[in-house]
Amino acid sequence: MTSAEGPEGLRVGVVGIGYWGSKHVRTMRSLSSVSQVAVIDPSEERVAAVRHSFPEVPAFRDLESALPHIDALVIATPPTTHAPLACAAMAAGKHVLVEKPFATTLEDAHQMVEIASENDVVLMVGHTFEYHSAVWALREMVARGDLGELYYLDTSRLNLGLYQHDVNVLFDLAPHDISILNYVLGSTPTSVECWGSRHAHRRLEDIAYLRVCYDEPHVEANVHVSWLDPCKVRRMTVVGSSKMVVFDDLEGEERIRVHNKGVVQSDETADLTMPPMSYRYGEVVAPYLVVNEPLLLEDEHFVDCILTGMAPLTDGANGLAVVEVLEAAQLSMREHREVFIDEVRRSLRTGLAHVGGRPAVLGREAV
Ligand SMILES: NC(=O)c1ccc[n+]([C@@H]2O[C@H](COP(=O)([O-])OP(=O)(O)OC[C@H]3O[C@@H](n4cnc5c(N)ncnc54)[C@H](O)[C@@H]3O)[C@@H](O)[C@H]2O)c1
Repeated sequence: MTSAEGPEGLRVGVVGIGYWGSKHVRTMRSLSSVSQVAVIDPSEERVAAVRHSFPEVPAFRDLESALPHIDALVIATPPTTHAPLACAAMAAGKHVLVEKPFATTLEDAHQMVEIASENDVVLMVGHTFEYHSAVWALREMVARGDLGELYYLDTSRLNLGLYQHDVNVLFDLAPHDISILNYVLGSTPTSVECWGSRHAHRRLEDIAYLRVCYDEPHVEANVHVSWLDPCKVRRMTVVGSSKMVVFDDLEGEERIRVHNKGVVQSDETADLTMPPMSYRYGEVVAPYLVVNEPLLLEDEHFVDCILTGMAPLTDGANGLAVVEVLEAAQLSMREHREVFIDEVRRSLRTGLAHVGGRPAVLGREAV
C-alpha cells in the first residue's frame, strides 16, 4: 500500500463540487484523520459557493494541478468523466473513491480495477446505500430467513428529473438499486432484461424497467427507474412466504416496515365456491434502526481503508459487478432480449465489448 498519510494527516481532494461533491467536502472536513480538503472544479461559481461555507479551502481548476497537493481523491463529476479521472489519479499513486455509476463501460471499469492493483492504491465506489442502516436491516432479515422463502423483490426510484447530460436514467439511478439488491441478497445476478424509452429527452432514455435474475438465492427483482414521474418514490419491497418488508427511504421515521402478512393457496381441489387463496393478516413492525449518515460512514470507511490497508466494503470489484449488470441491461434494452452477465464478460474478454460500439453518451441513439 502506498503511504498516503503525511505527518499532518490525509490530504483529500474532491473533484466535482456540485450537488453531491459539496456534501463530500462537508463530510470529509468533519473527519479527524483528514488534515485538508481541496476542491477541484472548473466552475468558478461552484468554487465560490463552496468557499462561502469554507472560505479557506484550497481550490484547483483541474486534476493535474491538484495532484501534487493531495493523497486521495473523491470523484463526484458527471459519470463519463469518472474513469479518466480515476485512472489519472491512481496512476499518480492516489487513492480514489468514485461516485456511482462506477464507470459507464465495462471496459473502463476493468481498467480502473487493474490500475488500482498495479499502483497498490485503494479504489472504492460510492454505493452509498450499502452504508445505510435500513439496507443493513434488510440484509440481516434475508440472511436469517425471517421472510420465509423469498418470492420476489421490487424497487422504484422515481421523480421528475434530475435529467443528466451524459447518461440515461438506467446508468444514473439503477446503480443504487442493483448495489442494494446485490448487498441484500449477498449475490450477483446471472441475467437481466430491460425495457426503456425516451419521452421528454430526445436522446436519453428517461424511464426504464429491469428484471434482474439471481441464481443463489433463486429469485427475481423488478427495478423501475424514472426521471419522468410526478411523484418522488424511493421504495423497495421484499416479499417472502412468511413476511413482507417495505423500505421507504422517504419516511422520516419507520423507514423499514415488516408486514406479518401472507397468502396460502387453498386446497387444490377445484371447488369454485371456495376462495382460491387464504390470507393471513398480522402485525406491522418497524424495527429500530441506528441513526446514521450513510455518506459520512462511506467517507470515513474510505479514509480508514487508506490508513489501515483494509479492503473497502464497496471496492472496485463491487463497482465492476454493478457495471456488468448496467452494460447487460443496456444491451438488453437495445436488442429486446434477456442478456446473461456471462455474455458481457465473454465479449469483453474476446474484445467485443459494447456489442454495437462504444457509446459517446449513454442513450439509444449513441450506441
Ligand atoms: N451516491 C449518491 O447517492 C449520489 C447522489 C447524487 C449524485 N451522485 C453522483 O455524483 C456525481 C455528481 O453528481 P451531481 O448531481 O453532484 O452533479 P452536478 O452537475 O451537480 O456537479 C458536477 C460537478 O462536476 C464539475 N465537473 C464537470 N466535469 C469536470 C471535470 N472534468 N473536472 C472537474 N470538475 C468537473 C461541474 O462543474 C460540477 O460542479 C454523479 O456521478 C452522480 O451520479 C451520487
